[in-house]
Amino acid sequence: MSLLAIKYKRGHLEILNQLLLPHESVYEEITGAEDGWQAIRTMKVRGAPAIALVGALSLAVELLPVSFSSKEELKNFVAEKLQYLTTARPTAVNIMEAAKHLTLFVKDSSSKINDTETVKVELITEIEGMLEKDLSDNKALGRLGAEHMLQLVGADKLKVLTHCNTGSLATSGFGTALGVIRHLSEQDHIDHVFCTETRPYNQGSRLTAYELVYENIPSTLVADSMVSLLMKTKGVHAVVVGADRVVANGDTANKIGTYQIAIAAKHHGIPFYVAVPSTSIDLSLEHGSDIVIEERPAEELTNVAGVRIAAPGIACWNPAFDVTPAELITGGIATECGVFKPSELKKALAGKN
Ligand code: MRU
Repeated sequence: MSLLAIKYKRGHLEILNQLLLPHESVYEEITGAEDGWQAIRTMKVRGAPAIALVGALSLAVELLPVSFSSKEELKNFVAEKLQYLTTARPTAVNIMEAAKHLTLFVKDSSSKINDTETVKVELITEIEGMLEKDLSDNKALGRLGAEHMLQLVGADKLKVLTHCNTGSLATSGFGTALGVIRHLSEQDHIDHVFCTETRPYNQGSRLTAYELVYENIPSTLVADSMVSLLMKTKGVHAVVVGADRVVANGDTANKIGTYQIAIAAKHHGIPFYVAVPSTSIDLSLEHGSDIVIEERPAEELTNVAGVRIAAPGIACWNPAFDVTPAELITGGIATECGVFKPSELKKALAGKN
């Protein structure tokens, strides 16, 4: 079994088909943007950072064998593919950020470099750098988030609750919220981790539980509806979740169910953290209400493992994400640049976009 969502070497990309976890570890080759788009849309790969990485790397493998007749042709090709990749899923900002960055990068390189092939290879190298950067950002934010949490809570061994999957499988490796937990565990500061099922898609029971068991971290799975009782009775010290998009005022879009966990945490006086690389922060939007929330097919709610469990004829609403208002993020927003209060975010990361 593997915790590596993305396997890449120049010219060759494979992704772990997460639809088959935790029963089977099957890698599938991605040969270009079309495959990348499909893998993202169908959730074979998911999690905001992994979506951006697979999108960009799918372009890199498609670009490598192609000879472009001019820099103009290369630029148009790249812009068109990146634009297409951003349409696979609407909420996570990372792939939009990556598309913006890479479109500017190729434009800038074209103005400095004469040879079209060299511009292409520079772009591929830039995309490859994103993989390493994501890993080092995860490790940095994991450490910073863990240190902040330990200090705020004032205990040596923590009971931590997390939601959805934010680990190696959602990133280049290590993880964001699960990166904080991984760091705490490596430093022997974990008493216990609770992970939610994360209905309706079960990223918690299928993926986070799998990662926690794989890493031998003491952990317990709970249904989403058990969170308030868990907080009341089990001594949870802190909550940490990831995000698909954090906007300028600190409002945070993350997996559906995050908002109600934040409300319960506030009620019980439990610090609530968001852990993200700065690629998940979108300072171009002011309020959470500006974020487009993806709605997914009803079958994800009505069926479990292909078997219909809901009464025939019932209508369904299946938003994949919700927005947690900044005032409920009481612990902080942990990034590779530091841990910030929502109100500090704009100033701390000004110039990022
Ligand atoms: O629908 P998904 O599985 O892509 O949703 C994933 C999440 O909501 C994660 O919490 C978020 O992307 C952060 S992953 C580091």
